[in-house]
Amino acid sequence: MSIISSDIHKAIALLNQEEVVAIPTETVYGLAGNIYSEKAIRKIFDVKQRPLFNPLIVHVHAVDQLEALVSEFPEKARLLADAFWPGPLTLILKKKPSVPDLITGGKDSVAVRIPRHPVTLELLRHLDFPLAAPSANPFNRISPTSSKHVEAYFKDRLKLVLEGGDCQAGIESTIIGFEDGEPVLYRLGSIAVEEIEQVAGPLSIRNKKEHAPEAPGMLAKHYAPQTKTLLVEDIDSFIQNTDYARIGAISFSEYVKGLEEERVQVLSPAGDLKEAASNLYSALHKLDSLGLDIIIAQRFPEEGLGKSINDRLERATSS
Ligand code: TXA
Ligand code: MG
Repeated sequence: MSIISSDIHKAIALLNQEEVVAIPTETVYGLAGNIYSEKAIRKIFDVKQRPLFNPLIVHVHAVDQLEALVSEFPEKARLLADAFWPGPLTLILKKKPSVPDLITGGKDSVAVRIPRHPVTLELLRHLDFPLAAPSANPFNRISPTSSKHVEAYFKDRLKLVLEGGDCQAGIESTIIGFEDGEPVLYRLGSIAVEEIEQVAGPLSIRNKKEHAPEAPGMLAKHYAPQTKTLLVEDIDSFIQNTDYARIGAISFSEYVKGLEEERVQVLSPAGDLKEAASNLYSALHKLDSLGLDIIIAQRFPEEGLGKSINDRLERATSS
């Protein structure tokens, strides 16, 4: 018997009683429940205020658990799973009939991943069932990258937020489906397009709503702060030409002059896109809590995780 923390014990007990528990992953915190419990899954949709057509990701701790869930595992899916699991990669695969329709929004596919967080991997190893877990934020709001963010959203609705520290990757998993065995990207995420292509070859990208009937969650407005938010090419020139008084700024590596210190969020002074991605949501949460007139975000370089960051900023600023 391994020694496990009292909070993991509590989480095991609650999940076995068909309750919903917030869990840490390396990307964002999730709202987790037993995929086979209708009660738990309905509570997830209810707590999140999420429409039922938008399917959930199923989390497992080992590839052999997929035998019970998927009917096909294309060669390139295997290559990607070997390269990136445990980690921020979600694969969309043909489902077996035993996977409840409530999880998949009635689709014939299921989204699966093995997360890379020691607490949640330990939890999953002690359960007899996989966990469905969407990000632990109300529909369309900023995803949580700390237990504090989850508590601020849902304190009264959850019996337990399992502590796992700050999420290291900081934006959601990259979602990949397959058409005729070839990979298609449905959501930019914590694994860069270039990294996926190195393993699985050229990737079609279909992550905009018009082009992604396959990924019903990809709404234009998503991940949004309550404060009006704008994406600009040049923060300094915006500040010089605006009438807004209380301005917050999200910058890649350079400090923004002329604003109060707490209103400036520099995501990576060293100019590292991975570090910037890991800090993006906490910066948005912070600025959104200050009661500002507007949040200005700088467009990031369109390479590596810069593409994923720009995608989230575009959805955060879409009206
Ligand atoms: O990093 C993550 O993926 C986090 C953590 C908690 O694992 N989870 C997450 O879940 O971001 P959620 O529910 O916020 O986003 C899941 C996305 C949605 O856009 C949904 O439409 C898509 O996955 N999805 C789920 N099942 C699908 C399916 N069968 N076909 C196409 N898209 C699917
Ligand atoms: Mg989400």
